[in-house]
Amino acid sequence: MRQLHVVKHPLVQHKLTLMRQEVRSTQGFRRLLNEVGMLLAYEVTRDLPLEQVEIETPLAPMKAPRLAGKKLVFAPILRAGVGFLDGMLDLVPSARVAHIGLYRDPQTLQAVEYYFKAPPDVAERLVIVLDPMLATANSAVAAVDRLKERGCRELRLVCLLAAPEGVERFHGTHPDVPIWTAAVDERLNEHGYIVPGLGDAGDRMFGTR
Ligand code: URA
Repeated sequence: MRQLHVVKHPLVQHKLTLMRQEVRSTQGFRRLLNEVGMLLAYEVTRDLPLEQVEIETPLAPMKAPRLAGKKLVFAPILRAGVGFLDGMLDLVPSARVAHIGLYRDPQTLQAVEYYFKAPPDVAERLVIVLDPMLATANSAVAAVDRLKERGCRELRLVCLLAAPEGVERFHGTHPDVPIWTAAVDERLNEHGYIVPGLGDAGDRMFGTR
């Protein structure tokens, strides 16, 4: 049931290394997160079903494949999840977006919800939750809890970096939700940061540190 896909594509790995570097500018970090978002969208949609349809090319009629099955919703967890969004929407422009506002209480590290807005038909769609840093996994677990409460049954989680503790906790609660990540790092530190990681993704993306 539990599925963890580590995306080893050289472009993803190269861009992740650039993002880890402390010298990277806010602008550079944001651009790279967007680019990696696009590459991860390619991976997470790799097995989407296709159907054959009749079309007319300028030269001849033919049968050609077209996406079938459930339509997509991207569900970024605010703030950092937004960094993936543009790249993903560039690849799947017809997708809808569900925004999930959660912050980490700095004392308890628990996720506190402050915003939730999803398309009315979210339960009929394939929902791809976006959370670049799967650290304690409290936010990702809370987001998926909330989406399941709304009736969503088919979900996937895309992150950039994961801690082993985060993968364990997430799959301990939601073993049916597969994870895609560019890397699984060593561990979490006592402040809930991924080590070696890349720091606070939201701060690096928005220049707020
Ligand atoms: N969130 C981040 O942005 N970075 C971490 O290392 C952990 C959580």
